[in-house]
Amino acid sequence: MPGFISIEDIAKRYPAPGGKSTTIFEHLWMSMERGEFACIIGHSGCGKTTVLNILSGLDQPSEGTVIVDGQAIDGTSLDRAVIFQSHALLPWRTVMGNVAYAVTSKWPKWDKAKVKAHAQTFIDLVGLTGSEQKRPSELSGGMKQRVGIARALSITPKILLMDEPFSALDALTRGTLQDEVRRICLETGQTTFMITHDVDEAIYLADKIFLMTNGPGAVLAEVVENPLPKDRVRTDLHRHPLYYATRNHVIDFLVSRSKTFVSETPDFNPRNVPVVRPGRAEPSIVAGALEAIPNVGQKNRSLP
Ligand SMILES: Nc1ncnc2c1ncn2[C@@H]1O[C@H](COP(=O)(O)OP(=O)(O)OP(=O)(O)O)[C@@H](O)[C@H]1O
Ligand SMILES: [Mg+2]
Repeated sequence: MPGFISIEDIAKRYPAPGGKSTTIFEHLWMSMERGEFACIIGHSGCGKTTVLNILSGLDQPSEGTVIVDGQAIDGTSLDRAVIFQSHALLPWRTVMGNVAYAVTSKWPKWDKAKVKAHAQTFIDLVGLTGSEQKRPSELSGGMKQRVGIARALSITPKILLMDEPFSALDALTRGTLQDEVRRICLETGQTTFMITHDVDEAIYLADKIFLMTNGPGAVLAEVVENPLPKDRVRTDLHRHPLYYATRNHVIDFLVSRSKTFVSETPDFNPRNVPVVRPGRAEPSIVAGALEAIPNVGQKNRSLP
């Protein structure tokens, strides 16, 4: 049975000189359940934003189909909300105006009071109570991104799509917003697909991490199931016995296997991508990687 989100054998190809074509990625099968938080990681140019744009309906695949909640995607929809790296707020509207605009787009028949009350709920949710009348030029980068999150969530999307939403923020603000997004997604059961280059961010936020090989001709090599407990907290992440196993597994993929995977895996079946749960099953990777981290290897190797 297909998942809540089902990406089915999509490819993206662009025309190349001499009547040829360049394949950005191909034979991509991915699936997500309702309420799941997935991150996609891969080197620059492998096609992550293209996949996200296809999910949003802003772009179309050259081949294949994407199904969301039983319906094939055909263009953009207010069922799918996108948060970009640059917050893309309307500069002439206030915080309330920006969120209310999205609410009115989704529910055009609502009266002003209902729109305002609904928008206020999401402004409160992201901690912007008291800043409703400020315009984007009066907000910090983190506050702007909060408005983007409130705006996206206010339309109660079936899927929230985020393209490196925190990469332009300083480390402290990034951490705070990661905490908030995690809390909100857990509280609301929001299905979320997020692009990140930050392995720790993926381990903190995601239930599963899609690992893409390098482009051109990228494929989804592996799905990493996050073995950390659902009630994990950011400040304690590194103390969990399986944290380094997970981190090292993803980094090992990015550093070496993302380049060699396609040539070294001739019998790769894109419909049956391995699902890996890092842990004791990978002693060679875990032990090898831990040795490279001073004062950590010994301590962790004795752990289960
Ligand atoms: N209109 C286009 N014509 C030709 N090639 C394109 C076009 N748009 C995108 N590409 C190519 O598609 C590839 C994938 O782009 P995409 O933006 O999806 O990558 P990405 O994985 O998100 O990279 P990054 O991590 O740098 O954001 C890139 O190599 C890009 O040059
Ligand atoms: Mg991108």
